[in-house]
Amino acid sequence: MRSSYLVSYDIADEKRLRLVFKTMRAYGDHLQFSVFECQLTAADLVRLRGELSAIIHHKEDQVLFVYLGPGEPPAFPHFDCFIAPENYTFAFKGHVACNWLQTLEVGIDPAHASFLHRFFEDHNPAGNYGIQFRSTSADSALPMTKIMREYPRPQIDTEYTDYGFRIVTLRAIDDLRTHIRVTNLLFPNAFVVPLSPEMTVTQWQVPIDDVSCYWYAIFTSFGDPVDKQAMRRHRLELYTLPDYKPRLNAANDYGFNAAEQRRQTYTGMGDDINVHDQWAVESQGPIQDRTREHLGASDKAIAVYRRILIDAIKRAAAGERPLMVLDEAAAERIRGPITLDGIADARALESYWREFDAKRRKGSGWAAMYPAE
Ligand SMILES: [Fe+2]
Repeated sequence: MRSSYLVSYDIADEKRLRLVFKTMRAYGDHLQFSVFECQLTAADLVRLRGELSAIIHHKEDQVLFVYLGPGEPPAFPHFDCFIAPENYTFAFKGHVACNWLQTLEVGIDPAHASFLHRFFEDHNPAGNYGIQFRSTSADSALPMTKIMREYPRPQIDTEYTDYGFRIVTLRAIDDLRTHIRVTNLLFPNAFVVPLSPEMTVTQWQVPIDDVSCYWYAIFTSFGDPVDKQAMRRHRLELYTLPDYKPRLNAANDYGFNAAEQRRQTYTGMGDDINVHDQWAVESQGPIQDRTREHLGASDKAIAVYRRILIDAIKRAAAGERPLMVLDEAAAERIRGPITLDGIADARALESYWREFDAKRRKGSGWAAMYPAE
């Protein structure tokens, strides 16, 4: 019997990369970047692993096999990050030493950035290409660092969608202006958030086992092609190859510096927000005991997510089709999603973010319009 596998690889050398690509083409369908989908028998699997093993450098390269079970895999939704041309995207990953759900939940908590990623002073956004919370909000000169710091109690609303749910987070700046941030949960294990007025991040948390996971992020630009070299250089300052573990971690107190905490940042753990998040999720322990916690108003999206997750587990156990197990027709209808970080007229919030998204899609040259709901 054949089973489906997703095979993804990261090869440090051009020549070996070509050989791996050629080998993979004989076994499966090329989906994108370094990702193949293969229908393999048990014997095929052994043979493919053997052939790849003979090509790759075991310290510098990585090949990941993801078992997808027997039969046809569900279809891929037509999210922006999958349909964007390759030079408009950049992918990276990072290792986290805890259960994947902890890593997911920090991504759907819009309030944490006001504390965990608080910078006591604003930096010049011009020198911070491709870095989260260092840009300005769209249609304003307000640095995100200032908004996060000075408006720490957002109003959080969630709306169900065909891919999971949308999170609309509002911070009232004054009577006329509201800061609005639109983010998304892609069921079951990803979130999509804005990085800058032109770029979004789609990030999956993929379990390695119960107590460790990788995040895989695809950065997608609606504006200029992505400067992949700058993006990669910045991320390699924190992550080490070949296992993508962060240099700042529990073994060195995540770089904690008490003087910095007094004067510059809330955590005292440097400027890279990935370090703050890494500490926040790993310091809960490998699997957080959720029977001992009390969710509050700022955890609204987390509560919604847990209800959907429990419902999907029940459906799967009953032999029904859970959310996001798609056929081709359903996958084609799922677009977007919409992300935004901007300053809107407080009386016209929804029309603001819908118009912002439509304009950005029209101007991009590649993005499909978001379907009417
Ligand atoms: Fe964060």
